[in-house]
Amino acid sequence: MTSIGIHDLALATTHHVVDLAELAEDAGVDPAKYHIGLGQDRMSVPTADEDIVTMGAEAALPLLQRHGTDGIRTLLFATESGVDQSKSAGLFVHELLGLPRTMRVVEFKQACYGATAALQSALGFVARNPQERVLVISSDVARYELGSAGEPTQGAGAVAMLVAADPALLEIEPVSGVAARDVDDFWRPNDSTTAVVDGRLSLTAYLGALTTAWDDFTAAGGVGIEQIDRFCFHQPFTKMARKALTGLAQHTGATLTDELQEATFAYNRELGNTYTASLYAGLASLLDHDDDLAGRRIGLFSYGSGAVGEFFTGLVRPGYQQLRRRESTEAQIAGRVRLGLPAYRELHGAEHPSDTDWEAPSVTEGAFRFAGIRDRARRYEATPVGTAQPPV
Ligand code: CAA
Repeated sequence: MTSIGIHDLALATTHHVVDLAELAEDAGVDPAKYHIGLGQDRMSVPTADEDIVTMGAEAALPLLQRHGTDGIRTLLFATESGVDQSKSAGLFVHELLGLPRTMRVVEFKQACYGATAALQSALGFVARNPQERVLVISSDVARYELGSAGEPTQGAGAVAMLVAADPALLEIEPVSGVAARDVDDFWRPNDSTTAVVDGRLSLTAYLGALTTAWDDFTAAGGVGIEQIDRFCFHQPFTKMARKALTGLAQHTGATLTDELQEATFAYNRELGNTYTASLYAGLASLLDHDDDLAGRRIGLFSYGSGAVGEFFTGLVRPGYQQLRRRESTEAQIAGRVRLGLPAYRELHGAEHPSDTDWEAPSVTEGAFRFAGIRDRARRYEATPVGTAQPPV
């Protein structure tokens, strides 16, 4: 049977960053609550000319520069912070990246789980035709009400993945465990720019979905817990993944220490919650920071509020280190520009009605920008950096 999986992946984030120590001080909260209690250091914040489209295109660009577009016939865009009720954000990305006209492009939504649904679908497309490659893009802006308990768990970022036969990074194994239950733990009504969340319920819903998905994984013939060498979980805040590993250890009776997932945290501590991209930012961090992964099995858990979960596994391919992008990812994260709290709050509340023409100020130094609204439609453009498309 052909092995199929993630051939390459790349991460992108925003121009701005807010330091959680500043947010804590301003709120009269001990900064250790955020750094240790939640396991978060900073959060990415988009400029007025950045959004899920610009981040998604930015994440996908290095994949195309490295691998070209041959065989790419499908672009699956996963997000829960969509920019249109009808049109897929993937179509804007398709144009910005100059992808072939002969493609299917669609958007996936089920909270933070959407990217895993897209990945599983991509595996199916490639299984049917191993010559095809699928571009999966996950991109989100996590926004809660100012002053709410969720505020320090905001963030923004995108991860793009190229799914192909005989992958260079991670072969996804066929067995999956899934879970679904209608629960009001977290959602975003159509007329709200911020999520509504029952924080306590969201924690138990996440842990419940994990154990249900694990039991289903086992019933479906998945490997035993002792055959999994590393764990990578959805990270709404990195402490949540620690709670999840503890929960899985209690549920299975296995001894599972945090060393098995420590390398997954580096990027998400900096980005904050990236919703659909969070699990895959964790995977990027693991592949970039752990030198002893060749041939090892990673257990991945994807959670999407509302609520669904999926537990699945992947085998790391020998030579994965050659595809790493640690230096450029770290440079991007370190290069973010600090945003003071007044400016952050102003950006947080900024809304631009779709029935009024509006030109976005030029702020981002990324490869693509949201130019604004004209004739009720969103307009995007490549910046001089994007036009130059330097090799990566
Ligand atoms: N030093 C160190 N730790 C401290 C501390 C201090 N001074 N003060 C508090 N802490 C610890 C607390 O003990 C707690 O740790 P434990 O959970 O391990 O006990 C931690 O800091 C957080 O403290 P609280 O529970 O008091 O925090 P809170 O009630 O203010 O908010 C939250 C926590 C409910 C998760 C909130 O951040 C929130 O609503 N976040 C958004 C929802 C979310 O992310 N849910 C996760 C599951 S849903 C999901 O995964 C989907 C998704 O992406 C949203």
